[in-house]
Order: sequence, then C-alpha cells, then structure tokens
Amino acid sequence: MSIFEWSPIYETGVAEIDRQHQRLMAYVNEMFDALVAGRGETVVDRILDELIVYTKEHFTFEEEMLRRGDDDDVGPHIARHQALLHTVEGLRSRRAAGDVRVDGDTLGLLRDWLVTHIRDDDAGRASAVRRGAAG
Ligand SMILES: [Fe+2]
Repeated sequence: MSIFEWSPIYETGVAEIDRQHQRLMAYVNEMFDALVAGRGETVVDRILDELIVYTKEHFTFEEEMLRRGDDDDVGPHIARHQALLHTVEGLRSRRAAGDVRVDGDTLGLLRDWLVTHIRDDDAGRASAVRRGAAG
C-alpha cells in the first residue's frame, strides 16, 4: 500500500514533468513503507538526501520550462520552489541535529508539500508548462 497514489488531477500535460512528479511521490511512498516496516531510522536520512537532490533537479527543469513558456507567474513560482526546498532542507537539518520526532512529522509534511506543489502550483500552470515544452 502507498500513502500516495498518482491521479489524473496531478497531470500537467507534459509527460516529462509528470514523470518527475511521480518520482518525487515515490520517495514519499518509500519513506512511508519503511516507517510501516519499522525500518524508518535506517532510510529516512538517505531518502531526505535523495529527495533534496532530485527536487533541485526537478525545480531547475521546471523553472526553465516556465521561462521558455513565458509564464507570467514565473518569479513567484520560483520563490515558492525555494520555500518548498527550504522546508525539506530544514527537516534534514533537524534530523542531523538529532530531532527524531521528524520521522513522525515528516510524512504528512512531505505529502502536503508535494500536493501543494504538484496540484496547486504546477497543474495550475499547465498551459505555460506546455508552451515551454513545445517551444
Ligand atoms: Fe513540479
């Protein structure tokens, strides 16, 4: 069972972006599965590290598309990306400082984080993303 299921409401109409979003979801699902199986402590930090690296790649890719699509919201969109990245990096820092409560909070926070990013931000900017992909 996964905490997160892909759904058509998340589609942007750009296959590459959708594929990247699915990979972001896979990290959250992997963390959920590991916590359920009692393996959280060994994988949470690794997944957070991978998630941070991949999120940076994804945001860079997406921001380039928005620029090419001449999106009128590109500035605020990039600022929201930075805030989202800051959230995950903050979690990682708290873990590094020994805050084990992060395990329990992390999943819900990451899920909300992703839903906000994918559904509200990207699906909402789908037309500009598609223009960028075509241009
Ligand atoms: Fe995205």
